[in-house]
Amino acid sequence: MAKNLILIMDFGSQYTQLIARRVRENNVFSLIVPYNITASEIKNLAPKGLILSGGPANTYRKVSPKPDKSILKLKIPMLGICYGMQVVAQLLGGKVKFSKGREYGRAELFIDEQKDLFKGLAANLTCWMSHGDYLTKLPKGFRTIGHTLNAPIAAIADKKRAIYGVQFHPEVIHTQSGDKIVSNFLFRICKCSSNWRMASFIKDTVAKIKKEVGKKRVICGLSGGVDSAVTALLIHKAIGRRLRCIFIDNGLLRKNELQQVKKTFLEHFKMNLVCIDSRQRFLNRLKGITDPEEKRKIIGNEFIKVFEDKAKKLKGVNFLAQGTLYPDVIESVPAFGGPTAKIKTHHNVGGLPLKMKLKLIEPLRDLFKDEVRNIGKRLGLIENILMRQPFPGPGLAIRILGDVTDERLSILREADERLLDEIKKADLYDQIWQSFAVLLPIKTVGVMGDARTYENVVAIRCVTSVDGMTADWATVPYEVLAKISNRIINEVKGVNRVTYDISSKPPATIEWE
Ligand code: XMP
Repeated sequence: MAKNLILIMDFGSQYTQLIARRVRENNVFSLIVPYNITASEIKNLAPKGLILSGGPANTYRKVSPKPDKSILKLKIPMLGICYGMQVVAQLLGGKVKFSKGREYGRAELFIDEQKDLFKGLAANLTCWMSHGDYLTKLPKGFRTIGHTLNAPIAAIADKKRAIYGVQFHPEVIHTQSGDKIVSNFLFRICKCSSNWRMASFIKDTVAKIKKEVGKKRVICGLSGGVDSAVTALLIHKAIGRRLRCIFIDNGLLRKNELQQVKKTFLEHFKMNLVCIDSRQRFLNRLKGITDPEEKRKIIGNEFIKVFEDKAKKLKGVNFLAQGTLYPDVIESVPAFGGPTAKIKTHHNVGGLPLKMKLKLIEPLRDLFKDEVRNIGKRLGLIENILMRQPFPGPGLAIRILGDVTDERLSILREADERLLDEIKKADLYDQIWQSFAVLLPIKTVGVMGDARTYENVVAIRCVTSVDGMTADWATVPYEVLAKISNRIINEVKGVNRVTYDISSKPPATIEWE
């Protein structure tokens, strides 16, 4: 794999992960590394090419992030994007200046040389710009290969040293032929071959797990989501029933979730799975607790205790499998700013304790979510799990505002099921990041038949998002909202009012607690 590796040096761009994915879409393996990686570390990894990402800094400021100068001596082909182009150009004697005519959004790019990086492109195309600084003087040995009305030097090349730079963002979908530019860099300039394929990933990973685990045993916590499911399937393929999966029913699951897990993993895949009924244990611990952070802590700790208790009883277990994905492990050095403020304590199956002194197996730690889904599909995972919307570790407890009781759980479960059913029927499930119901801690007056009611309020939350970090409320058609509301009020006992949440994140969060 290293023979065909592209490194992406991260200067803090919001698009860094997108660059990595664009490279992988060409079946070339890519890794994101911090901008300050040293030249000797790069040499050890022996990449075929370097891509320097964009970033929010200004190269002419003292505090701006700069790469190790010696990378220029490595003779590895380079592509600088936006800030990445400016920083390389400046290192080589070019000049970058602030300009009042900032360019954000679409711009027309005129290609001056339709070869190498721009081979096969139209003479002019739309590109995506996001910058205030400009390259005003070319470094020695470079030529201008593209310009826009506002940026006379919008793309540069030094063919001899195989160093290229573009002021615009080829990784963004709005740049016409952006994919062609990326593939030209990979195949024409870096001479990569395209051998990063999911089928070979499965084969290699299974062989690796077999070798590492030998005759020993592995445990894996299943959550019902795609990451832990694919982790388990890969390991199961390697060591069969020496993988023991644990599913904890904490009583905070949605309707039919336990049944689906059993059906999929026990009946279909014939895995070695234990489902632990801990419903009462969690409910007892949550009694009277209304503070969201306290709920999260209790659920997280209790989860760990149940898992540890079970794991201790299993003899001869040496490994713990986790569904960690690549975005969780990317080692970024923040180009600016301090640590981000803690908003909520997140808990998930991936964050299990290591007091048990088990060795970790994380077969998905190099993969993005879409790649994990691709593997899941190849391993025969059902669509319901494969395309499942994210569901938080603390489950319905953080969607019941106030006291979590059996009765309130049951109301929310029924309401949530009606909502999901209508969203799926309207073909909206895959377009929406998350759609769920929230039970509010208030009652309102209503009228049913001729009688007065005084019952619960359910809020509907549907959001669109790319990564859950920011989100917008989804513009679900009124007719669908009407159906959801009708069904919940008519079919779920104890609810007489439904509202729709129209807050974006920020300032709201996706979950209500
Ligand atoms: P918030 O509410 O912070 O949620 O905007 C962002 C995304 O994270 C999910 N979420 C969690 N996922 N454990 C998880 O595995 C958690 O404790 C947790 N809390 C929130 C939330 O559903 C959304 O997708």
